[in-house]
Amino acid sequence: MMQTVSRLIRNFIPVHYDLSLTIERVNRTFSGVVTFTGSSLQDATITVHAKDLKIETVTIDGHTASFSQGDDDELTLTRSELVRGEHIVVIGFSGTITDQMHGLYPCYFDHDGATKELLATQFESHHAREVFPCIDEPEAKATFDVTLSTETNITVLGNMPVKRQREEDDVLVTQFETSPRMSSYLLAFVCGEMHKKTATTKRGVEVNVWATMAQPPESLDFALDFAVKTTDYYEEYFGVEYPLPKCDHVALPDFTSGAMENWGLITYREIALLADPATATVDSKHYVAMVVGHELSHQWFGNLVTMKWWDNLWLNESFANFIENIPIHSMHPDWGIWMDYASTWSLMALRRDAIEGVQPVQTTVNHPDEIGSLFDGAIVYGKGGRLIGMLRQYVGEDDFKAGLQQYFEKFQYQNTSGDDLWDCLETVSKKPVREFMNKWVLRPGYPVVHVGENYLEQEQFFIGEHAPSDVLWPIPLAATNDALPSVLEEKRIDVVIDKSTRLNIGNWSHFITHYSDDHFEHLLNTIQTTDPLDRLQLLNERVLLTRSGHVSNSSLVPMLKQSGDESNESVWGILNLALGELRKFVEFDDEHRAHLKRLALLLSDTQFARLGWDGRDGESENDTKLRPSMIALQLYGENESVVRESRRRYQDAGDVESLDPELRGVILTGHVKAGIDDTQFNELLAMHKSSASATVQEDIIGALTGSEDTEQLKKLLSLITNKSVVRPQDASHWYIYLVRNRLSKTLAWDWLRNNWDWVEATYGGDKSYDDFARYTAGALSTQQQLDEYVEFFTPLKREPGLVRVIELGISEITARVALVESQKQDVLATLAKL
Ligand code: BES
Ligand code: ZN
Repeated sequence: MMQTVSRLIRNFIPVHYDLSLTIERVNRTFSGVVTFTGSSLQDATITVHAKDLKIETVTIDGHTASFSQGDDDELTLTRSELVRGEHIVVIGFSGTITDQMHGLYPCYFDHDGATKELLATQFESHHAREVFPCIDEPEAKATFDVTLSTETNITVLGNMPVKRQREEDDVLVTQFETSPRMSSYLLAFVCGEMHKKTATTKRGVEVNVWATMAQPPESLDFALDFAVKTTDYYEEYFGVEYPLPKCDHVALPDFTSGAMENWGLITYREIALLADPATATVDSKHYVAMVVGHELSHQWFGNLVTMKWWDNLWLNESFANFIENIPIHSMHPDWGIWMDYASTWSLMALRRDAIEGVQPVQTTVNHPDEIGSLFDGAIVYGKGGRLIGMLRQYVGEDDFKAGLQQYFEKFQYQNTSGDDLWDCLETVSKKPVREFMNKWVLRPGYPVVHVGENYLEQEQFFIGEHAPSDVLWPIPLAATNDALPSVLEEKRIDVVIDKSTRLNIGNWSHFITHYSDDHFEHLLNTIQTTDPLDRLQLLNERVLLTRSGHVSNSSLVPMLKQSGDESNESVWGILNLALGELRKFVEFDDEHRAHLKRLALLLSDTQFARLGWDGRDGESENDTKLRPSMIALQLYGENESVVRESRRRYQDAGDVESLDPELRGVILTGHVKAGIDDTQFNELLAMHKSSASATVQEDIIGALTGSEDTEQLKKLLSLITNKSVVRPQDASHWYIYLVRNRLSKTLAWDWLRNNWDWVEATYGGDKSYDDFARYTAGALSTQQQLDEYVEFFTPLKREPGLVRVIELGISEITARVALVESQKQDVLATLAKL
């Protein structure tokens, strides 16, 4: 563990910053002067954060002060006459612009035959200090006046509207309005050649969506419309007006995560904001809506009211992960967003949270560098979001909303911790919210409830080896049977249970149910006609129970065989997953793999026959999304005519961008599966390079990495570190697809070990650093691979950002190897009898 850093706000409380920055893009440098006021709680010294900055001059109250740079990015300013109280500090400094994608960094794009650049910032969690000296802690809220001097003929955006702009000797000076009281991690600016579309909310807040000139103007419309409506929606839901006069949403060509909620200047990866009607799919639009909804919710929850310290970062993210769905569901009930939520985030949470050693939602953070190590999305977003959803059910929608409104009203422009939110919800609902929630957020894991004929019993649910556990949770049962308690607190209760009883209706509580085989069969046969969410949940729970060894994997075979009539796309997500569970048993064996392929065909024949290749006018989004999944299964099953048809459609289209977007991915996959020569391979790579659409690029990568030609797979691996082909933001995707492909698994795993220095240099310190260790663990399944994983990663546990992901990775592979060992005969025999 890292040592605790001192909190600088305990010695100096900033009130206002005046920041002037001159940016020399071409020289990759910047220089600036920051003037700040505030009160010092000690004599003689003031300490602020500064990282990789050259400090040139320091004055305090007009007198020159001396300074020294120490550990933990601390810059200490000294003047012996200084006494506690109000002071004005002025610091002159300079720094350099690097490609690291935090602090101030360039984004690259091609337009009009030239490579161009935007400059953007990414300050969360603690990168503001790389651009100017400040008290870089969330609790150190202050107002900001920002002035930027840049090159001319570009757009310059900040958190606030422009107050004044003038050109002086080829320099553009942009001065922004004063910001409200805010944390340094939410400050941002973006400069460069961009275009925009504008609209206003009901109350007149200006909303803009921006992108580089390489993106078509139509690609901004979808996000703009959704952003305006969602801003209106949240104003009503949260009971507090959007706090700033404008909100910009900017798509950046290089971006380390998905998006960032900078106040009034939200930044995104292109794929998370842009939806060109010519190339976007239904899914890609839903994704944009989700990300916009997420970042907009932070404008209140996170920005207006902010956590005191990083140990409550989960609260920001869990909350946003849950809330983002509410406006979407209200505007588009037909999207089935809660089904998506159940089949993505909830599912990830249930899988991850079952491994011994997983972190609790709320984890101590001594140093912001540790944030990378605790950023397990399945837990911080998935489980945390699920717990907020469980809480809403526990207190009821009305009290949930009223409690939130009270929280915003009471704490606006201030800082809080989780307990402040629980207390507001407790006051409103008169239920013991704090006690209830802390039992879930402070402890790792979750329970399985075993349902017998005359009892219910809870037990911690584990996948893989674990020490005994006697932890008990207060479980909201949400049962169909009124004889059962609303919250199960005991280990076991005796009660008679009939076979129609189901638990966790709506899937809001964070537990799974283990029905007896009879009971499960009965439910599976009777719920075909009811809510698809019930089927999704039941099947997902069954798959989890195979992972833990409670039921045999071979039981998935009949379950799949009888599911061909299923027509709901999200439920198909789980069926696909169940099929995926079986793949590990047949990976290195052609004969048995052929049986699994046959199962894939059997499973998808009915729906493929119903849907065919071409969409019908006015068909449901469900069917539009389901069609490519069925084609993908037919391709996996090697249906020759489907492979041929993919090739034909690809050749007819002539180029990737004119393919039907919904089918683009599978057509490319089929085309590659049909076998491509070097010319065709290079043609796809060239289209990847020339396309401005990140969605198109993703489809090309997905298809290419499914190649069955070893030389081509090697070539793809060798390109990962080549920045002119693969943006560093996308490199982990290439790797993940390649390590999942049976034919490139070993090659990719070797590649990772040989290129670890590059991984470390490129992502070290970033929260995506652990992706490589995480996804590798998801793909390996033999004893030899396990031994290699242990050997390679154990020494890397010295890095705080990797410890947990490595330990969990080892547990995960160990569990998989043991499962394959013990159940292989049974599974293979069942598959052979199809
Ligand atoms: N605030 C986060 C991004 C972040 C977190 C940056 C911690 C640095 C440190 C942002 O709101 C977020 O959650 N982004 C997600 C996308 C979201 C829609 C799931 C991301 O980047 O993955
Ligand atoms: Zn977030």
